[in-house]
Amino acid sequence: MRSLSIPVFSFLLVMLLGVVAPANGSPHSPGPDAMKRKHGDGGGGGDGDDGGSGSGIPTVDGAKNAVCKPWYAIRDAIMGGIYHGRCGDPARAAVRLAFHDAGTFSLALQAAGRPNGGADGSMLVDPNEVLRPDNNGLQNIVSLLKPLPAQFNVSPGDVLHLAGVLGVLACPGGPAIKTYIGRKAPKNIAPDGLLPNTNSPVKVLTDRFADMGFSIRELMALIGAHTAGKQRFVNLARAQSPFDSTVNIWDVRFYSETQSSSVAAGTFRLPSDVNFSHNATTQKDYNRFVGKQDNWGREYADAHEKMSLLGVDKSTLTDCTEILPQSIDLKDLSVSSSNSGKQPTDPVIDPVKLEAAIQKYRSIWL
Ligand code: HEM
Repeated sequence: MRSLSIPVFSFLLVMLLGVVAPANGSPHSPGPDAMKRKHGDGGGGGDGDDGGSGSGIPTVDGAKNAVCKPWYAIRDAIMGGIYHGRCGDPARAAVRLAFHDAGTFSLALQAAGRPNGGADGSMLVDPNEVLRPDNNGLQNIVSLLKPLPAQFNVSPGDVLHLAGVLGVLACPGGPAIKTYIGRKAPKNIAPDGLLPNTNSPVKVLTDRFADMGFSIRELMALIGAHTAGKQRFVNLARAQSPFDSTVNIWDVRFYSETQSSSVAAGTFRLPSDVNFSHNATTQKDYNRFVGKQDNWGREYADAHEKMSLLGVDKSTLTDCTEILPQSIDLKDLSVSSSNSGKQPTDPVIDPVKLEAAIQKYRSIWL
């Protein structure tokens, strides 16, 4: 957390942005709906006391569960100290990290009583796991998160999976995902060779996710996380290319652009994502999310929650969703939101409204 002058400065900035009106003269601050929604309808998570700041960020003073109290400061260390309140490279890397930590889980290995992976934080503990080629690009976020478990005397799995949830929320449009605390230290070295390869056939990929416990529908929701992603190692000549044209927001444009017959300028499409969008076994579930922000927000949140609990006994955990900031709702930020005609598949977001919303709802971390 920064000093108290930051929110005051942010407030003044929002006021200033409100004065510099866009061509249509609409106000820039997001409507009240941006703060009201809760998990399950694509909106925010925390419904606790926000200290009266109106920023939608619950404070420890309003904590409901004593177990969750230390997690307000850990939330701030990640959202402020690492993400600076924004959907930048550390936030997107943390979402991928959450998948790479959990995605080594295998029902088949579990049934055979063999060493297994899962959402245990092993990526923060085993110095070799992050060096595997599958995990290229995750070294930086691992080194940023690694000190936190010792610093706050908590488990690496809880830190890593909170970081994944906050990575989604750092991206405007990202839904709140139920957040649990109490994972134990990792038991095994995560098995190698279980993370998906973008060049594998669709059947190989859907089978691998089935072995993690995911349906095709859940997989189609999860790969939407690429909405906020970039590639660095699939095509070195095009490193840093985003997967859609709106990489700093958590929208469904990824689904329509990946399926389109033409490639959006400056973007890079993963072969596996393009295949999912057309394959006979995946296309129906893929299409559920084309142009459907609310559907996707709900289903993504549920699938990500499940991912964050792979191989973990949920009955031993405490629900600390109360610590999460409100989600930033994109509906209130669209340039077309005031038009009465048919809504476009992918509404265009007004950059000035977007920045005003970030200044308002992420103020203490910027
Ligand atoms: C079939 C399944 C998947 C495949 C084949 C796949 C593959 C990839 C590849 C190749 C990259 C680019 C890495 C690089 O070159 O830097 C990437 C990035 C990313 N993936 Fe996936 N992925 C899959 C599923 C997922 C899931 C389930 C999630 C999370 C829920 C996820 C989140 C991300 C994110 C956020 C990035 C961007 C990371 C960044 O920009 O730093 N992916 N993925």
